[in-house]
Amino acid sequence: MKLNVNGQSYDVDVPPEMPLLWVLRDELNIKGPKFGCGIAQCGACTVHVAGNPVRSCSFPISAVQEQEITTIEGLGSPEAMSAVQAAWVEHQVPQCGYCQSGQIMSATALLANNPNPSDEDIDRYMSGNLCRCGTYPRIRAAIKTAAATVQQFDPQTDSVEQEQAS
Ligand code: FES
Ligand code: FES
Repeated sequence: MKLNVNGQSYDVDVPPEMPLLWVLRDELNIKGPKFGCGIAQCGACTVHVAGNPVRSCSFPISAVQEQEITTIEGLGSPEAMSAVQAAWVEHQVPQCGYCQSGQIMSATALLANNPNPSDEDIDRYMSGNLCRCGTYPRIRAAIKTAAATVQQFDPQTDSVEQEQAS
């Protein structure tokens, strides 16, 4: 089976029912997505398939087909962070960190669909991503900061405008 993960092609020889999370972590050594509950209840394993957030612990590899898979490793790097990753650093969101890959993937998907979410929008969208450390207030603040950054982004020029709106 051919997979496209973070812009790279891979050939994997695995059973079709194997969950995507197993393939990512154990076959491809992509360790950003975490195993939490294993039953699609905590969000620690969240990745994007064709831009949509999925619980990779419960998503069979056969359902991926030719679609593009993105993990947190594909969002950015320490030298070139995505707006959400940068906001996470700015607000020092993580405590133990275990849930945070999934939180960032869900937050990224939220902002792709709703660039200016209200507190209620954030709470509703992020409700499937659990954090045992209770970092929810910082997650919400970071999403607001990332939203402000995204709103400066000019889709016509692919650049961040230098001047702040007055
Ligand atoms: S490990 Fe996938 S939702 Fe919990
Ligand atoms: S930071 Fe520890 S579980 Fe979320």
